[in-house]
Amino acid sequence: MTLRLGRRRFPALALLTAAVLMLPQAATAAPATAQADTLGAQAALSGRYFGTAVAAGRLGDSTYAGIVDREFSSVTAENEMKWDTVEPSRGSFNFGPGDQIANRALGRGQQVRGHTLVWHSQLPGWVGSIRDANTLRSVMNNHITTVMNHYRGKIHSWDVVNEAFADGGSGQLRSSVFRDVLGDGFLEEAFRTARQADPNAKLCYNDYNIENWTDAKTQGVYRMVRDFKARGVPIDCVGLQAHFGAGGPPANFQTTVSSFAALGVDVQITELDIAQASQTAYANAVRACMNVARCTGITVWGVRDSDSWRTGQNPLLFDNAGNKKPAYHSVMSVLGGA
Ligand code: G3I
Repeated sequence: MTLRLGRRRFPALALLTAAVLMLPQAATAAPATAQADTLGAQAALSGRYFGTAVAAGRLGDSTYAGIVDREFSSVTAENEMKWDTVEPSRGSFNFGPGDQIANRALGRGQQVRGHTLVWHSQLPGWVGSIRDANTLRSVMNNHITTVMNHYRGKIHSWDVVNEAFADGGSGQLRSSVFRDVLGDGFLEEAFRTARQADPNAKLCYNDYNIENWTDAKTQGVYRMVRDFKARGVPIDCVGLQAHFGAGGPPANFQTTVSSFAALGVDVQITELDIAQASQTAYANAVRACMNVARCTGITVWGVRDSDSWRTGQNPLLFDNAGNKKPAYHSVMSVLGGA
């Protein structure tokens, strides 16, 4: 940092005093040259990405597309890479909508998150009705391999398994066709298959309600990741969805972020939205990521309030007309180090 003190010569002590007096200001405000004017560019100053969920059907809306292109350095397909779209019947793959989102983003220099390979929801009925373990294992591995091969080299991080843990106090996996037919080992198998399919993609476990460090569900996921790391099962990242109520993240959210990171995985905030989008709540969520070196990026789950799955809760950073909301500015401020 250059201290511009004019041409006068100052005694050393006076200079030191001046420097010390200036320090608090210098520590809280990023240097003028380091300020960016979009979420993606601002996050990039600390080596992070700032992304959004994108719906292919909205890309024809120029206000929507304009914000996506201007503000974000990463995109996640909101629905278009899910099993029911990608493989609606066995062995018949439809990559059209996912390709539309991925190719558009890559052409504009944005990264793409892959969401998602193995999930009990938005799963076509033909998968959900399989009862034979060998058949389901082969179907699951074929789905992972085919989809990852198709997108090889294009996806920064894949949500290999989504929402496999149960809500409530058990800390165990939820009942699903995968758990019920293949046993708990389906998770490990999915990650091993994914690593083989695209060794360069980061492999994430993604879930909701794992933001509060003391919750049984959080602890269950933590034990799984710790076990995977101890046994050499490939896993590179944990996605904390971060769908928050109006109060924003729990007070111990940063403990959760740093505890996962300490296991040797990246942490990503993957689906952030907050009921009513208070400035403080958004600032707290983003600050927890900024304070942990291995928290590598943040994705908000939609662009304008009118694009959100949480109808009527106004949980996003842009209003229905595409204007920046107060929370946008608090996010920018925290991304800039304030
Ligand atoms: O595509 C059909 C359309 O053909 C039909 O006319 C219409 C009628 O309702 O439905 C359309 O499908 C909807 C789809 O979004 C696409 O718009 C589904 O009904 C609807 O259920 C689906 O909701 C998505 C939801 O996942 C499904 O679980 C949301 O858009 C999406 O934001 C949401 O995202 C999930 C993440 O993937 C995982 N974490 C939680 C998050 C929020 O639920």
